[in-house]
Amino acid sequence: MARLNSHYLKLKAGYLFPEINRRVKAFLDTDPEGAARLIRCGIGDVTEPLPASVRRAMHAAVEEMGARESFRGYGPEQGYEFLREAIAANDYRAHGIEISNEEIFVSDGSKCDCGNILDIFGSDNRIAVMDPVYPVYVDTNVMAGHTGEGDASGLYDGLLYLACTAENGFVPAVPKEKVDLVYLCYPNNPTGATATRSQLTAWVDYALKNDAVLLFDAAYEAYIRDPEIPRSIYEIPGARKCAIEFRSFSKNGGFTGVRCAFTVVPKELECSTASGERRPLHPLWNRRFSTKFNGVSYVTQRAAEALYSEEGRAEVAELIHHYMGNAEILVAAAKGCGLPTFGGTNAPYIWVHGPKGLTSWEIFDTVLKKANVVVTPGSGFGPAGEGYFRISSFNSRANVETVAARLRALGW
Ligand code: MLT
Repeated sequence: MARLNSHYLKLKAGYLFPEINRRVKAFLDTDPEGAARLIRCGIGDVTEPLPASVRRAMHAAVEEMGARESFRGYGPEQGYEFLREAIAANDYRAHGIEISNEEIFVSDGSKCDCGNILDIFGSDNRIAVMDPVYPVYVDTNVMAGHTGEGDASGLYDGLLYLACTAENGFVPAVPKEKVDLVYLCYPNNPTGATATRSQLTAWVDYALKNDAVLLFDAAYEAYIRDPEIPRSIYEIPGARKCAIEFRSFSKNGGFTGVRCAFTVVPKELECSTASGERRPLHPLWNRRFSTKFNGVSYVTQRAAEALYSEEGRAEVAELIHHYMGNAEILVAAAKGCGLPTFGGTNAPYIWVHGPKGLTSWEIFDTVLKKANVVVTPGSGFGPAGEGYFRISSFNSRANVETVAARLRALGW
């Protein structure tokens, strides 16, 4: 008798965004006028067209694929050298961070990488996640059988939840107890918070002291405008021995539909075997890549490479400028309603505490029905998000101005 993976049955409601879509569809089916006015500021999906340099690089790569002499079949699973070099040189070595090309693994997305990375870790690690949290970190651990059952509030037995609150600036202090794997995401999704150098140093020191590994999600790094805020965990001394970094082209180059990202696994990073022997993780991730993945398409990797050209960089800066301009408008609107408002200065997300007494899903429903705007309910990211909602600044300027006006009109 074939058996299913019963850990999947522990998962709570649908993944947050499909669940939001289900509720939005139910609303639209009953309100055609609302449907015509609907503006989506829920999922953090980019809206602006692909940069010209990227499109040109893709066209040229397609032409190469159309000629026998330049056609490419399977590429290196870890990524073409031209892209690994562009990433390591521009994102790291240009900033004085020593990362070699072989430490870069090009993939089809950070969401996939954050889930897949669990393949190279044992099943008996103590795992810490932030609360609120990007749901992928939790759900992939549930699927892998690293947790017990979930409770009514969505917390799973076996995980250590690090509360991120307005009081701690949405950056948790290191725990007193020992954990083995810690997910950190800065600039943070969903709160839009950033972590200072000293806060990240405390985490690196903790990891070194406890033989823990930090899984550092830096997908929103391009939105950091404050030069004091670290852009990479490897800016912190010692991080090469204890951290894996995830980065993406989704939110800087507008690649949410194109799909390209990368993971950095330093060669010094070691973990223990069951018998206590120290072994590097790099060969394991390399083996996983070669066994379960055939690499990102050549056309896509040429597109990602174009983001590092002079023209590409200027275009990325323009995109970030656009989305952060939106963020400013949304922050002002939320503050104008008298609501406690966070994020939106070094991150594309605005994290707002709704009117007292309303749950996140009640806020979601009110904003959907009265303002015809889709936001993300904070409790969908974890119990510490209850009472909050997230507004994404990924949208056209015209839509954002309309959203700001409609939020004000709610009269909160
Ligand atoms: C979000 O809205 O939280 C993100 O778009 C999700 C993602 O990047 O997968």
